[in-house]
Amino acid sequence: MKRIFTYLILLAGFILYGSINCYADAHIGLQNLKCEMLSNPSGIGTAKPRLSWQITSDIRNTNQVAYQILVASTPEKLTAGQGDLWDSHKVNSAESIMVNYAGKPLGSRAACYWKVRVWTNNGVTTWSKPATWSVGLLNPADWKAKWIGCDRGFAWDSVSKFSRLSARYYRHQFDLKSGIKKATAYIVGLGHYELYMNGQPIGDQVLAEPPTDYTQSVKYNTFDVTANLKQGGNTIGTVLGNGRYFTMRPKYKPKKIKEFGFPKMLLQLEVEYTDGTKQTIISDNNWHFTADGPIRTNNEYDGEEYDATKEFPGWNNAGFNDNKWLKAELVEAPGGKIEAQMNEPIKVMDTIKPISVKQLKDNVWILDLGQNMAGWLRLRVKGNRGNKVTLRYAETLQASGELYVANLRDAKVTDVYTLKGGAEETWHPVFVYHGFRYVEISGYPGKPELGDFEGQVVYDALPTIGRFETSNDIVNKIYHNAYWGILSNYKGMPVDCPQRNERMPWLGDRAVGSLGESFVFANGNFYAKWLDDIAQSQKADGSIPDVAPAYWNYYSNNMTWPGTYILVADMLYRQFADQAPIEKHYASMKKWIDYMRVKYMKNNIVTKDKYGDWCVPPESPELIHAKDSSLNTDGQLIATAYYYHLSGLMQKFATMLHKPADAQFFGTIKQNISKAFNDKYFDRTTSKYSNNTVTANLLPLYFGITPTAHKQAVFKNIVAKINEAHDHISTGVIGTQWLMRGLTEFGRPDLAWKIASNTTYPSWGYMAGRGATTIWELWNGDTANPAMNSRNHIMLLGDLIAWFYQDIAGIKTSNAGFKQLIMQPAIINVLDSVNASYQTAYGTVRSNYTSTKSGFKWHVIVPPNSSALVYVPAKNMDEVTEGGAKISTVKEIKPVKMQNGRAVLSIGSGNYDFEVKY
Ligand code: BGC
Repeated sequence: MKRIFTYLILLAGFILYGSINCYADAHIGLQNLKCEMLSNPSGIGTAKPRLSWQITSDIRNTNQVAYQILVASTPEKLTAGQGDLWDSHKVNSAESIMVNYAGKPLGSRAACYWKVRVWTNNGVTTWSKPATWSVGLLNPADWKAKWIGCDRGFAWDSVSKFSRLSARYYRHQFDLKSGIKKATAYIVGLGHYELYMNGQPIGDQVLAEPPTDYTQSVKYNTFDVTANLKQGGNTIGTVLGNGRYFTMRPKYKPKKIKEFGFPKMLLQLEVEYTDGTKQTIISDNNWHFTADGPIRTNNEYDGEEYDATKEFPGWNNAGFNDNKWLKAELVEAPGGKIEAQMNEPIKVMDTIKPISVKQLKDNVWILDLGQNMAGWLRLRVKGNRGNKVTLRYAETLQASGELYVANLRDAKVTDVYTLKGGAEETWHPVFVYHGFRYVEISGYPGKPELGDFEGQVVYDALPTIGRFETSNDIVNKIYHNAYWGILSNYKGMPVDCPQRNERMPWLGDRAVGSLGESFVFANGNFYAKWLDDIAQSQKADGSIPDVAPAYWNYYSNNMTWPGTYILVADMLYRQFADQAPIEKHYASMKKWIDYMRVKYMKNNIVTKDKYGDWCVPPESPELIHAKDSSLNTDGQLIATAYYYHLSGLMQKFATMLHKPADAQFFGTIKQNISKAFNDKYFDRTTSKYSNNTVTANLLPLYFGITPTAHKQAVFKNIVAKINEAHDHISTGVIGTQWLMRGLTEFGRPDLAWKIASNTTYPSWGYMAGRGATTIWELWNGDTANPAMNSRNHIMLLGDLIAWFYQDIAGIKTSNAGFKQLIMQPAIINVLDSVNASYQTAYGTVRSNYTSTKSGFKWHVIVPPNSSALVYVPAKNMDEVTEGGAKISTVKEIKPVKMQNGRAVLSIGSGNYDFEVKY
């Protein structure tokens, strides 16, 4: 009886549960709610954000047909189903990414709690889990705080070429009443800051703020600090480091290096009480500071020195006696617009255990992390007060076992830690980072053990969204090296390298690489921020520099480096379906491309170039650049071909933005250029361009300048040229941007694969074979002059990573944002298997296949609300099975056509297992 009763209760519960969700299908759900491509962002800089979500479903062919969004001003209202800010009601639409907020106008400080439910062709979801966002300070008038700083160095500082400037410690005590409901801190700390409330660190960001041209824009961060404050006495502490604000090389080459001044900050803490009253605490000259603290110097190139004997315990908490500290000084604002940081913060993203520690000489040890990386070393040490441990960093070792530092130029990359003595101490620098695999440790008290050290890998907190693995170990190793190279060079902006006295955001390095990177990391916000940096670096006449933010003054007016502005905007649209950057930057892009035409185009040929096909494999091993003119490609040819290609993108953008006159204008430019280009560089009898380098032929062919009738012949010349180089690479930064996809598109993916998997010089595999764990700046990085020879540059990757995903894994978007996928892996005879996945805005796409003599097996996953055209290698449709059944019997698969040995099938979302037996 008891049992039956229990069953009845269970059954009733089940019915009740079922009835609550009566219309919701248990197979379909929602995940990954995002606002502005960020999960739960705090203090965004827009009142009109865009909302995205992903549908999960284990039923094939699931598509959204409608959605409803609720946005509430409190979590309680949201739970009660009251969208007091916005109830979209049921909207019949398939849109599930970047849906514009269209509720009540949002002002500064608005807190928003939201959820969504969707209707699909296969059922309805329940409401998603709630997500939140908050709006930051949108108006300059919202800022009551004052800029504080100190525009001079102290006795122990030196403001010279190798600057030493100690960190500045600020503190402020204040009282709060009882009934704290909410407290929000807004901070701009330039160059870098650390923030504490009552002794607790706030947030897990490091090296914040992201670097900008501070005269144009400065970023603020927003933190909910409600839990960190209390009734009565409270203390805020901040530490200011130099970052890019107080430049690494002040008073040195003033024409080249931009200087901003001494560190400064702006802080506003807003407290709301339960009784409705408000209190605002601001930075001003009531604060106190000292520069005589433990961080004695911090310089991105030269390192950080920390003297623990100078610590002042409790400084960032109540009760500390600061009467020896100085009064904070009011200083000029940096000049830039104060804007919310809308890209992910930099964080410690990974840790590495070192693999060996060897004694080099008395009291000097060499630690090997086994991986070239960017970040810092955390050390654990026990010794006497005043003992000094010195850490020097390098990417490689000399034959003697000593660090190889010749390629760091004059960067000193040295951290020094002075012990306070007694108990065990742990330390790592906070305002600098290094690019390194090896660390020389000297002055360590006792014998250093591996467990005393940890490499902390520091880069922008961009989720890894791609995985790529093949049955070829070399290619896997190259992918590994690329992965580490890419993440090493994300530092709030894409830098060229993380180790030597450069670390500059060179545009050319990312022209096409950014596309490959977007398959590996969710870099949409990161690159959108960089486009803003580029726009802010534009001169009134339209000129765009090669380095942006323009910390170095390089307005050299070439096409290839600045052209990255347009290529990255296109990448953001194609990969993330984000049209906003194109809308925002169209006018500046047009201004630049017009400027280049008016100033440098003569008879439809661009007459200006600076870098050529930068870093081709040179004729002799010690050279950085080839001197042999047969290896180099005419710079004007490159510039003109790029002008053509970029005009095509501008034409596309103009069409998207409904500017038909502009579109037509760019169309005409393309026609004019193509004629002039072929007249000048093309030999119609030999079908060779210019001096017949791979790059000279590839650019016009791939961009569509080559007359149709000559395409095959030009391609033949490219192949012959590659064969002449024993199927090795002969291109530099420019040619390599189009090489792998070019060879594939014209029918020789096997040759592209050969180049990609080579182990002999010059190749990515050669680098790996020489012990590289990242990608080198030069193909001959092991032999070339150290003056320009970083071991962690990614510009030579060209289109390799994009090609891995698009053509080897076969994961491509047909339009924008992977709503419609094209899955067409190139089948390479010598490649047995590929396992790849990629998280698009709709969810995870998977392409796992094995291709052997006995057949082809392909596991495909297409995320809900997207669809795919899949190209299965087969002689006819009947050969193809899915899940063991003939495809004609599988209702979710629509055969489209047979094309070039492929069965082309149209499929909706879901998991599929295709097979063809040979
Ligand atoms: C940088 C490159 C950059 C190049 C252009 C080099 O010093 O490291 O990444 O693109 O200069 O001149």
